[in-house]
This record gives sequence, structure tokens and C-alpha cells, in this order.
Amino acid sequence: MNLVEFESVTKRYRLGEVEVTALDSVDFAVRRGDFVAITGPSGSGKTTMLNLIGCLDSPTSGEIRVAGQPVSGLDDHALDQLRSRSYGIIFQNFNLVPVLTALENVMLPLYLHGLSKDERQHRASAALAAVSLTRFADFRPDQMSGGQRQRVAVARALVTEPKLILADEPTASLDTASALSLVDLMKELNTERRVTFVFSTHDQRLLQHVSRVVELRDGQLSGDDAPGAGVTGAALVQTGDSEVA
Ligand SMILES: Nc1ncnc2c1ncn2[C@@H]1O[C@H](COP(=O)(O)OP(=O)(O)O)[C@@H](O)[C@H]1O
Ligand SMILES: [Mg+2]
Repeated sequence: MNLVEFESVTKRYRLGEVEVTALDSVDFAVRRGDFVAITGPSGSGKTTMLNLIGCLDSPTSGEIRVAGQPVSGLDDHALDQLRSRSYGIIFQNFNLVPVLTALENVMLPLYLHGLSKDERQHRASAALAAVSLTRFADFRPDQMSGGQRQRVAVARALVTEPKLILADEPTASLDTASALSLVDLMKELNTERRVTFVFSTHDQRLLQHVSRVVELRDGQLSGDDAPGAGVTGAALVQTGDSEVA
């Protein structure tokens, strides 16, 4: 089953007189259980694509469907629900709250879920255990290494048990050993818990460890080694403009 589908998705940004096409007619699908790296040079559209997958931004044209439903048909409330219930997001710079402990950082996303404090603590502890950081539950971010901080960010993304975790260059500020260990952790969560991952990277060392690599060039898909995907993602059947009502 496809979690997210792009059909001829284009995103343009206007900067004064200049229009930039960040994504150009992209057809793409994320299936449940996928472990996908989006790669490509700086400026090729990776962040734009992740933001669109995460419904943090909307396309200029084309259609995005999440679990078969066109995102354009959802109101703000439904979009908030979708984001907080279905997605976990890991940022390049971790985005942890400096004055909170690891455990408190991981509890944060659960506030939106209306759980008791005990239940929030219980779930956050389990998420920290899943990333092997139980011992660091009471540490603040500045008392941890970069690799440990990024693991806290993974735990925070996991704690709501999202269907899909998105990560924009999650290893960019990590040394090689920490970067490889983060990818191992994500793969383990992918195989053992069936968490779907889509992340961007331009780190060649990591790409050898990824089962599906999607390559962007100037906003277009120049490669997708998903079984059944065409080079330009043409495997997705066009349904014409019948849904543009
Ligand atoms: N908010 C924005 N306003 C204007 N241009 C943007 C914006 N975000 C991205 N772009 C442009 O869109 C293109 C793709 O950017 P981006 O998705 O950030 O690529 P990547 O993540 O691969 O480096 C670039 O040319 C970038 O300058
Ligand atoms: Mg980027």
C-alpha cells in the first residue's frame, strides 16, 4: 500500500521577479515499510520534497495523496491531525529544547495526544530505550554528544508511533561513526517495527546501506531504484485531470 503518492507534483518559489522551480512534475510513491534515501546535489529539491511529503507545504500544481486521500481536500484541522498522528520528523540540527532533559524532550510530542503524565513518561522511556539511551534520560542536550542528541531526536520522532518518519539530512552534523550508527538504528527500526523512513542525504558513505535511493537533479527525479518505478517515476498511472474539480 502507498502511504504517500505524488502525481506530477511541481513546486515553484517566487523570489521577487525570479521564479525557481524547486520540483518539476515529480511522480513518486512511498510504500509502507520503505526505507528511502533522497539524494542529489545542494539545491536539487530534497528539502522541498520532504516538506511536501510531510504536508508542511503545498504544491504549486499536481496532486499529493496520503493514504489514498488528496491532501488538497483537507482543512487545517485535518492537516494538523495528519501531521501529529502520522508523521515523525527529525531535523538536521536535532531541534531539541536545551533546558529540558532527554526524557522531557521525547515527551513533548505526546502533549498533543491528550495522555496522562504517567503514560507520557512511560512511552518516552520506551522510545529512549529503543535508541539505547535509557542511561541518559535525565541528561540535557548539552551534556550529550552529537550522535546521542540525534538519537534523542529519533526517539522523539518515534514516540507517537508514526507511520512515517521524515528526516532532512539527519547525519549532516555527525562524524562518520555516528552517522553510520544512526543509519543502522533507523534500519533496525525499519525492519523490526516496520517504521517507514524517508530521509535526505548527500553522503555517499550512507547510500550503500540504503535499499532504495531516489535521485533528484534540478527538481526532477533522475533515478529511483524502487522495484517497478521507472527512471522518471512513470510507473504511477496518470489519472488525467478528473480530480481537479
Ligand atoms: N522558501 C524558498 N524560497 C525561494 N526559493 C527556495 C525556497 N526554498 C527552496 N528554494 C529554492 O528551491 C530549490 C530547491 O531547494 P531545496 O529543496 O532546499 O534543495 P536541497 O534541499 O536539495 O538543497 C533551490 O534552488 C532553492 O534555492
Ligand atoms: Mg536541503
